[in-house]
Amino acid sequence: MSVTSARTRRTRPLALLALVLAMAAAMLGVQTSTGVSAAAAGARPCDLYAAGGTPCVAAHSSTRALYSAYNSRLYQVKRASDGATRDIGVLGAGGYADAAAQDSFCAGTSCLITVLYDQSGRGNHLTQAPPGGFQGPAAGGYDNLAEASAAPVTVGGHKAYGVFVAPGTGYRNNRTNGIATGDQPEGMYAILDGSHRNGGCCFDYGNAETNSLDNGNGTMETIYFGDSKAWGYGTGNGPWVMADLENGLFSGVNRGYNANSPSISHRFLTAVVKGESNHWAIRAGNAQSGGLATHYDGPRPNASGYHPMKKEGAIILGIGGDNSNSSAGTFYEGVMTSGYPSNATENAVQADINAAGYATYAVPGTPAVGSRVSLRATTACCTNTYLRHNSADSNAALAAVSSSSTSADKAAATWTVRAGLGDASCVSFESADKPGQYLRHYDFRLRVDSIDSGALSRLDATFCPQAGHNGQGVSLRSANYPSDFVRHYDYGVYAASHGGSHAWDAATAWADDTSWVVTSPWA
Ligand code: AHR
Ligand code: AHR
Repeated sequence: MSVTSARTRRTRPLALLALVLAMAAAMLGVQTSTGVSAAAAGARPCDLYAAGGTPCVAAHSSTRALYSAYNSRLYQVKRASDGATRDIGVLGAGGYADAAAQDSFCAGTSCLITVLYDQSGRGNHLTQAPPGGFQGPAAGGYDNLAEASAAPVTVGGHKAYGVFVAPGTGYRNNRTNGIATGDQPEGMYAILDGSHRNGGCCFDYGNAETNSLDNGNGTMETIYFGDSKAWGYGTGNGPWVMADLENGLFSGVNRGYNANSPSISHRFLTAVVKGESNHWAIRAGNAQSGGLATHYDGPRPNASGYHPMKKEGAIILGIGGDNSNSSAGTFYEGVMTSGYPSNATENAVQADINAAGYATYAVPGTPAVGSRVSLRATTACCTNTYLRHNSADSNAALAAVSSSSTSADKAAATWTVRAGLGDASCVSFESADKPGQYLRHYDFRLRVDSIDSGALSRLDATFCPQAGHNGQGVSLRSANYPSDFVRHYDYGVYAASHGGSHAWDAATAWADDTSWVVTSPWA
């Protein structure tokens, strides 16, 4: 197509030569299904973009270095117990995140990700998004920060954490350096969790308005991932990778439907958006293996206001341009470039992403789906007590159970583990003696309830196990309130954050009260 050949003509021969040399130098000779040789230790995504003549001007990751020479901080966490902060770095130059530093700093409490540092040297760090057209739920209308332990993975066999965006969470930088403005060319990619998304507006990463307001068509250019059909969509039921160009999530040249945009939901998903004058593209693939498919490559949308573009150069993560913050997703790494990257450069980046080795992390002690279990408290007061439902009402409670308990009491403290009703990577607990009723929170108190098909009650009944906060058993994070964990307090059971506003959020004994040993079932 003519726009493509126009771009090719503008590509500098020296830059092309540099890319070829860099790839040759970095090569192990491994051929991937993309036909591009995999980059060896050495060339990381931003090295490859630089070699292609389209350098990174922002590079964010909580999992690894995006330059082979990068040997500094990736992100900052803040812990609930005392408000102290700590930078989390890499294990070595060009290496993986030092997740153990986070685990020890956050031991016995919970942490939020306060800063995602820019590795490009331009200072384009992402911090808590301020209020805009929409207010955030945190103090002053800011968005929430991500719970730091909510998205554990392994990368190259090393434990690392993604940035878990629950609705209300958002990061932004409205004063950037080197990000495209106006109709200038840029590219971007992000690695996301294809299984964690929703239809809210708008799980975006990329270029947005510098005043957090909707400044009209063409004032944004970001990757969007999710199953919103409010503006654009493709085949199937979603989710789709689209571009948020403001007042429109575009899956192709048309507003609304574009037949070349497939539903795509790889657990680790590479999403690419790039744009230059009257030309843009969407590409995507499986971050674990294989290449990138092009979902769109052509002129700007056939709707007014998108040519020329009026990009403003702020950076957003997890929100829309006007701070719309009802979306969900998980971000592991992403960059923005200066200049329109070639497909060959992106293919080389995808080969490096494949080689990085993203994989799911199995939390030790997680109860197996289908098993029957009981959940024993670990606080010193209460190590003979178990999580049960009351017989008089449907509330959950903590009560002693022993071999001499009645069979009714034993059954009330027994649960069948099910795949999470609201997120299959987590779990739900079905009552052993009230089949069809599940443990869920309501008004932050736990109870058993029949769960309807609505998304809210299913999320209320979904808990994501992680290592026990006091080093014993597991802690059970609420799927929709990621700073809240199943906690006993005064023999009631609640969804509790560390040091929050409810009585049951009390900091005293929080780590013990939120740690549960999974035992064999009483019934
Ligand atoms: O373009 C979709 C959304 O519309 C943008 O993210 C937001 O700014 C506006 O509400
Ligand atoms: O438990 C907190 C909230 O309370 C639940 O998400 C909702 O179902 C109820 O309003």
